[in-house]
Amino acid sequence: MTDKKLDSLNIDSDRIWKSLTEISVFGATPAGGLNRLAASESDGQARDYVVAAAKEIGCTVRIDALGNTFMRRAGNDATAKAILVGSHLDSQPFGGKYDGIYGVMAGLEVLRALHSSNTQTSHPIELAVWTNEEGARFAPAMMGAAYFAGKFSAAELLSRVDTEGEKLGDSLAAIGYAGTDVVKPTEHVAYLEIHIEQGPILQDENLDIGIVTAVQGMRWFRVNFTGQSGHTGTYPMEIRRDALVAASALVKAVQQIGLEEPNLGRATVGHLVVSPNSPNVIPGHVELMVEFRHPEGEVLDVMTTKLHAAISEIKKSSLVEVEIKQELDSATINFTPDLIEIVRQAVTATNLKGKQMLSGAGHDACQLAAVMPTAMIFIPCDKGISHAEDEDITQVWSTNGAQVLLQTVLKLDLKTGTT
Ligand code: GLV
Ligand code: MN
Ligand code: MN
Repeated sequence: MTDKKLDSLNIDSDRIWKSLTEISVFGATPAGGLNRLAASESDGQARDYVVAAAKEIGCTVRIDALGNTFMRRAGNDATAKAILVGSHLDSQPFGGKYDGIYGVMAGLEVLRALHSSNTQTSHPIELAVWTNEEGARFAPAMMGAAYFAGKFSAAELLSRVDTEGEKLGDSLAAIGYAGTDVVKPTEHVAYLEIHIEQGPILQDENLDIGIVTAVQGMRWFRVNFTGQSGHTGTYPMEIRRDALVAASALVKAVQQIGLEEPNLGRATVGHLVVSPNSPNVIPGHVELMVEFRHPEGEVLDVMTTKLHAAISEIKKSSLVEVEIKQELDSATINFTPDLIEIVRQAVTATNLKGKQMLSGAGHDACQLAAVMPTAMIFIPCDKGISHAEDEDITQVWSTNGAQVLLQTVLKLDLKTGTT
C-alpha cells in the first residue's frame, strides 16, 4: 500500500463515539462516572462487550492467566509479529468513563476501520485489554501488563486480596476471565497506547494530540499502624494507642515531603482503611497507601528516605507499631525514539496540532516498554480532570486520537512490513 492511500483511510467518528457511550453503562454511577473495579462484574460485562465486537469482525480472542484479553486481526504475512495496541477497562472507585476505556475503544475502532475498508496489513494487529491497571482494588497498579512483561508470576498476583479478602484469581474466575492462553511479548513488534492526558496542558494550549516521550516514576508504600482498640467513653486519653492519630501524623508528613519538591513532586495518601471504623471505638488499626511521583529517580530516593524518617519519628512518639512495605516501584520510562517519530509523522499526516510531552500518570505502556518498542499518544481531557466522575472528552478529540492511532499503526506496518 502506498503512503498516499494509507493517509486517506479514516476511522468512523460516530462509531467510536457510540461504542464509548455503550460501554460506559457497565459500572455507571448516577453522577455520570464509572465504578468498575478490576475483575468486578461490570469489568466482566465491559470486556464481554469488546470481545463480542472483536469477534464480529473476525478477530481471534485469547485470555491469559491474569485475564489479559487479546483480540487479533490477521495480517498478510504469516511470519510477521503483531502490532499490539491496548489499554484498560477498569476504573477508579468513582472514576471517569474515558481513563483507559478510550484507549481500548480507539484500538477497537482501528480494527473496525481496517475491517470495513477491507484493508490488509502485513502484520497482524492485536488489541489488548490489560487487567487491573488502576490498582484500586488489588495492588499494585498496572498488574496485568506487569505480568505480561514478566515481572511477576501468575500465582503471586492471583493470590492478591482486596479489602474484603477476595482473591484476584477467584474474581477473574467469577467473571469468566481466568484464562489459560499463553501470550508472550516475543509475538509482538511494538506496543502503542492512546489515552486521555489526565491533565490540562493540551486543552490549555489548544492542541489536539500529545506525543508522549516519557512517563514519570512512581512508588507505592503500604503502611500498617497497629495500636489498641478500646471504648471511647471509658479509656483514658493519656494512655491510648490510637492508630488513626499516628496515621494522621504520617498523612501530614507525606504532604510536607511533596511540598519540599516544588513543581514536579507529588506525594499523596489516597487510601486509608480504619478499623474498626466506629464512632465509639478507639481505632486499633489503620492501613494506608503512600504514593510518590517524580520524573527523577534520585528525587524519589530522597522522598523515600524522608518517609522512613517520618515513620521512625511516629514510632518513637506514639506507642503505635508501624510496618512499611513497598508495593510498587515504577521507574521513569522513556519511550522508543523511532516509534515516537512515527507518531509525530501520523500527527502531521492527519493535519493535527501536537507536541511532545511527559506523562504525569502511569500507564500499562510503562510495563510494555520493558519488553518491546513502545509509544503513547494523548488526547485532551476537559479541564484536566481525571480519576473523577466528571472526567470528560469531546467527540472531536476522540475522533482525532483514533485517527492518529490508525495512521501510526499503518505507518508502522508499512515501515516494518513486507507488503
Ligand atoms: C494511573 O491510573 C495512575 O494512577 O497514574
Ligand atoms: Mn489509565
Ligand atoms: Mn487511571
